Amino acid sequence: MDFKALATEYKTPLYVYDLDYMSQQYEKLKLAFKGRKSILAYAVKANSNLSVIQHFAQLGSGADCVSIGEVRRALLGGIAPYKILFSGVGKSDDEIREAIEADILYINVESEAELNRVEFIARELRKISRISVRVNPNIDPKTHPYISTGLHDNKFGVDINSAKRMYIKAKNSDALDPVGIHFHIGSQLTELKPIYEASEIVADMVRSLEAIDIKLKFFDIGGGLGVEYDGETTIEPYDYAQAILATLKGLDITVICEPGRFLTANAGYFLTKVLYEKQNAEKRFTIVDGAMNDLLRPSLYNAYHKIEPITEVTGETSKADVVGPVCESGDFLAKDCELPVLEHNDLLVVHSAGAYGFGMGSNYNTRGRSAEVAVSNGKSRLIRKRERFEDLIALEKEFLI
Ligand code: LLP
Repeated sequence: MDFKALATEYKTPLYVYDLDYMSQQYEKLKLAFKGRKSILAYAVKANSNLSVIQHFAQLGSGADCVSIGEVRRALLGGIAPYKILFSGVGKSDDEIREAIEADILYINVESEAELNRVEFIARELRKISRISVRVNPNIDPKTHPYISTGLHDNKFGVDINSAKRMYIKAKNSDALDPVGIHFHIGSQLTELKPIYEASEIVADMVRSLEAIDIKLKFFDIGGGLGVEYDGETTIEPYDYAQAILATLKGLDITVICEPGRFLTANAGYFLTKVLYEKQNAEKRFTIVDGAMNDLLRPSLYNAYHKIEPITEVTGETSKADVVGPVCESGDFLAKDCELPVLEHNDLLVVHSAGAYGFGMGSNYNTRGRSAEVAVSNGKSRLIRKRERFEDLIALEKEFLI
């Protein structure tokens, strides 16, 4: 990838996505489930650019959405309604109404109270809402606590007993159709065992529901497959699929998987330019034009992203914190990164930035968000304009007195 040419053409800070890499990851995972009916429902939150969604739509992907905004994006990107799922612990009445009207595959219900709301709204609309229940299997996924979701002290899903009650209620309701079951124990998972154990618990639940004549069509295993940021060993898609399928013996059920990071993280690069070098007492800082408002993961999770200089300058390297212009000490892209002494306008590439990068960005410090570019077959195209000052004030300007 010619980062220098991309930075010259589109300026920095800039997100660049390799669509061909996304396709390869998609195909790899899809193939792993061959021999079983399966839907890959791309987790839109990982990278919700419309052109990225459209790319997955063209590959046949479904979409896992967590707000009605994401559902609208998925539809705009060309994902078929019957492959769209709507999850999340706090759906509003309006969101539920719109999802039912859009006739998506199902609403993933996360509490008994929510099930009551969905039933009430479906009845109002004189429709039957397809639902699945998110089960919390109480398994420790062994990942960062902020992205761990399958333990009883997390806000997500319901325990097995409540789930059973919810399925019985749904089966007896004239406005609900229980079609699926869902679990998602966390993100950036690098160990297979917790996934296998969770899947076993949930598959047993499917069997016990069949015994009381509740026959589900979809077994939704969530997302969570980890990727390599810093030499981690990751789970092979084939082993992942085999582990899940082993728990489903004897069940005629379609597997739904909701990958986000696996499809997009290592397809994305964040390009940023050096503004200044600065030495403070013992500490070297490389100040760049990208910041925590562009890529929050290092600040929020202390996440590691490999940073590589694209520069003619070589020679001795030393440790530097790569920091942005935002007025927070927590504004950094890397700590103690080995870098040569850099010059004004030298380019740095931040790797693995395709998932939870742009989407977690903000306008903090009145900084416009970066442009986004897609590359495919060696050709690049703009897929989101750089935000201008006018865009940032558009919703406030009229209120000046
Ligand atoms: N399905 C559900 C229900 C989810 O909650 C998530 C992610 C996914 C699928 C996709 O998970 P993935 O395949 O991408 O691991 N901002 C954090 C990650 C938050 C993940 C939230 N849920 C980060 O930057 O690491």
